[in-house]
Amino acid sequence: MKIIELETYEEMSQLAAQIIIQKVREHPTTVLGLATGSTPSGLYEKLVQDHVHNMTSYKEVNTFNLDEYIGLAETHEQSYHTYMDKNLFSKINLRKEQTHIPKGDAVDHLIEAQKYEERIQQAGGIDLQVLGIGKNGHIGFNEPGTSFSSRTHVVDLTPSTRQANQLFFNSLDEVPKKAISMGIATIMESKEILLLISGTSKNDAYKRLLHGAIDEQFPASILKRHPKVTVIRCQSPKQF
Ligand code: GLP
Repeated sequence: MKIIELETYEEMSQLAAQIIIQKVREHPTTVLGLATGSTPSGLYEKLVQDHVHNMTSYKEVNTFNLDEYIGLAETHEQSYHTYMDKNLFSKINLRKEQTHIPKGDAVDHLIEAQKYEERIQQAGGIDLQVLGIGKNGHIGFNEPGTSFSSRTHVVDLTPSTRQANQLFFNSLDEVPKKAISMGIATIMESKEILLLISGTSKNDAYKRLLHGAIDEQFPASILKRHPKVTVIRCQSPKQF
């Protein structure tokens, strides 16, 4: 893993954006893997600014998001569909058909997970995957104990993850208990990975990632086996 430590959230977002912009400019048909949460929103802001000022085009890009809550309609305020539309998709030249996010309101979630995995394979896999990390080491919504050989699947969210994400909902009760997430093997097949870690609340997770063993109890630890991972770490969190 290549580790880059920066001071501010702004610098982290700027560097992550530069890496993506360069990739898309060199390879206009790039398949991007995208993440949600507080951490990557600054990156998306930078991509939008660049699109407006430098006209980087996403006309031929395809995107696949890591995950979606089960039980939320696409239009729900806290769905990852809404997050992506608000933060990125509606602000750059990406048509709906180019973007992919698991359907949290699918009739059969198991089939939806399987279909999503197939869609990723049909697109030729992910070229560059953006990741955040949970305090417990989760990547996507792959919670501790998830098999390293998992493919896109239905997951039960841990109480700690639901609590961490409560911030975006009115109450804990409203936070979904399940999600559809790319599996760990799916993520590991990405040709390149960009892991963003911001804020002191992630100190323990960051230390464990750097110094801990590769262990299914800490999902992000598998990234140490990937040949092309860049970790960008900043101490300061996003300023709301
Ligand atoms: C969420 C998402 C992850 C994200 C993580 C950290 O549960 N499913 O993809 O990386 O939590 O989120 P944040 O960046 O808000 O700390």
